[in-house]
Amino acid sequence: MSNLFARKPFELLMEEMKGENRLRRVLGPVQLTSLGVGAVIGAGIFVATGAAAHNVAGPSLMISYAVAGITCIFAALCYAEFASMAPVAGSAYTYAYTTLGELFAWIIGWDLVLEYAVGSATVANGWSGYFQSVIAKIGIVLPPALAGPPLVYDTATGGLIATSGVINLPAVIIVGIVTMILVKGIQESASFNATMVFIKVAAVIFVILVGSFYISPENWTPFAPYGMSGLGFFGYTIAGQTDAGGAPVGMLAGAAIIFFAYIGFDSVSTHAEEARNPKKDVPIGIIASLLICTVLYIAVVAVLTGMVPYHEISINAGVSDAFKHAGLPWAEVIIASAGVAGITSVLLVMMLSGPRVFLAMARDGMVPQSFFSAVHPKFKTPWKSTILIGIFVSILTGFLPIDALLHLTNIGTLLAFVIVCAAVLIMRKTHPHVERPFKSPLFPFVPIMGMLCCLMLMFSLPVANWWRLFAWLGIGFVIYFAYSRRHSVLAQLRAKQGK
Ligand code: ALA
Repeated sequence: MSNLFARKPFELLMEEMKGENRLRRVLGPVQLTSLGVGAVIGAGIFVATGAAAHNVAGPSLMISYAVAGITCIFAALCYAEFASMAPVAGSAYTYAYTTLGELFAWIIGWDLVLEYAVGSATVANGWSGYFQSVIAKIGIVLPPALAGPPLVYDTATGGLIATSGVINLPAVIIVGIVTMILVKGIQESASFNATMVFIKVAAVIFVILVGSFYISPENWTPFAPYGMSGLGFFGYTIAGQTDAGGAPVGMLAGAAIIFFAYIGFDSVSTHAEEARNPKKDVPIGIIASLLICTVLYIAVVAVLTGMVPYHEISINAGVSDAFKHAGLPWAEVIIASAGVAGITSVLLVMMLSGPRVFLAMARDGMVPQSFFSAVHPKFKTPWKSTILIGIFVSILTGFLPIDALLHLTNIGTLLAFVIVCAAVLIMRKTHPHVERPFKSPLFPFVPIMGMLCCLMLMFSLPVANWWRLFAWLGIGFVIYFAYSRRHSVLAQLRAKQGK
């Protein structure tokens, strides 16, 4: 029983970092920030914003982005503190192992794999939408059977309905290509990413600068057509309105949905092991990428909702469509192409992160070591798990609709953030003297607010996501008790020491 809550000693973690078979330390602060921005700006702003403004928040989506951004800043400060203290791959999983014990670590590791895999599937799905709109400009239209998943989410009923699609083929293909790039290696990936990041940041700045000339301030009224809240508790409405399917709507509910747009800054911490000077550069990478994105996002939404009345914003490609609406079709092509590039770089970073969480878990015996911690002899990448995750993501993205994937990613990520904030609180108490090159300011306000804000957003999501999350965690528990518990390196060590 005591093994369930056994904590990995912090000293052991530090010791392991000196060990063999580690990843190459090649990333500096600019590359890490670029990886952060690469992971953050993508399908969220380019795809999800339209539907969120149209169906859930109206122009008040600007505030939703601010609320989600502030929530992420609280969590980012906690991530940064931990990442500077323990710069190893595994991120929140490793943090939980040293503070909350093995069972929590397992929960969070399993949850992170869900976040990255389902998040990658969401992003590939969004990529496919933009890609298809770009090739349509040159007259290429895919047959419906290959253009989308067989099921989509119906906002009117809250259920899933059948479509004429069989598989989202472009999404499956892009996942295959990214998997191959990742197997080949991190350095190539980081430079490829830098180019993509440049293109999409330029596109976002273009949207803000050009779009600001086409704003009609009267479009910002009514500012919050669905109200300023939107909070439920397992199907019961606590505050605000709901849509026909019973899901909360309003500014807060909008924040829970577009929270997706911020996901990814945390993946900088999963690269801590590959950072040249992790204690300094990882916090810089996390915080800089988040601040850059928050400012850009709020400006994009202000422009978008100023250009087009909220109820006319396109649900599928809101940003590029707004320029068509303004009579600038050439701008629409530029933005859609940059959207494709931008979303590709998000996919790259997200798919890079999952295998690294598994790597950390494998080193602790939580998942089979021979498979998940196999580092490729030449490329030095965790190639077997990269391919496994690639296959899993292809299946999800090929057959499931974007909304269901997006909501599930959000709830999984928010749970991870709650646990990281809790871990920082606990670690300050249990290990007050450990060197913390970066300390979260305003302690304990920041981690407590981080936990509360994340929980609030979790309750602003449609309730079905809680059940899906519980189902995933249930599978996780079965694996933990059937495999991990017996193979845990820490448990074996404790048995030897007679604990
Ligand atoms: N934040 C990432 C995106 O918006 C996941 O695509």
